[in-house]
Amino acid sequence: MIYVGELSDIPVGESVRVQGSVAIAVFNADGELYAIDDTCTHQDASLSDGWLEGCAVECPLHAACFDLRTGQPSGPPAKKPVRTHRVAVEDGLVYVEETVRVEARALAGVE
Ligand code: FES
Repeated sequence: MIYVGELSDIPVGESVRVQGSVAIAVFNADGELYAIDDTCTHQDASLSDGWLEGCAVECPLHAACFDLRTGQPSGPPAKKPVRTHRVAVEDGLVYVEETVRVEARALAGVE
């Protein structure tokens, strides 16, 4: 688990970036916390610098929108999803459980 910070450090409508195997963005969308890979799948932009609207974040570079629940882009120019990660809150402290990369799981023989 990756320690993110205190729940109060992530107000509604805000995001923070933490470092896992890659940078991960944690968003507070109307009181629900979501974590996705921070780097846009189109080019090298930080989604934590993007604009949050409902359960989606708009990339600050070319405006692709990613669903925070699924990681799926809503349309071009991004075509690939970002990974999503589980967020846990324990005693007011926020943690992210980084999702294992699909390729690594395949190599390990995990379905
Ligand atoms: S870098 Fe995100 S849409 Fe182009």
